[in-house]
Amino acid sequence: MKILVYPHEILRTKAEPVREITGELQGFIDRMIEKMYRAEGVGLAANQVGKPIQLLVMDVTPSEAGANPVVVINPIITETEGSATHEEGCLSVPNYSAKITRPARVEVKGYDRHGKEIRLEGDGLISRCLQHEIDHLHGICFVDRLSPLKKGLFRKKWAKIRPPEEDAG
Ligand code: NI
Repeated sequence: MKILVYPHEILRTKAEPVREITGELQGFIDRMIEKMYRAEGVGLAANQVGKPIQLLVMDVTPSEAGANPVVVINPIITETEGSATHEEGCLSVPNYSAKITRPARVEVKGYDRHGKEIRLEGDGLISRCLQHEIDHLHGICFVDRLSPLKKGLFRKKWAKIRPPEEDAG
């Protein structure tokens, strides 16, 4: 499993809904979680590892608290509130971060890896991570949200620092 580097085509692809939870999908979820931890990320969307399906994994708990992976299938943002600006990075855009403004609080509904409906809500890191990963599932990378000026600066910098291979992790 490889983490695709921006601006890979699949990172720009809108992910398809998951229609069936199969044994194969469970294995894929396990590999995604493992990859996320190995890459030291707090979240990973399925299209970042080359499979454009509506699936994200995340773990926003401090590492000393132990592994607490959350899997969300077919996530939908049902409510947003407020606005917050914070530094963001992405495993598909290694060695780069930028301040991004997003709603401060979100409510998300979706399904867990067993197909049970779940609802997540919060502000801070959980909110930011959910929005960032759900963006990926819509083919949007956080650098796409930069202002035109900052995006121009990013492009120049990225041309120099982007990894040559298609594996960021
Ligand atoms: Ni990302």
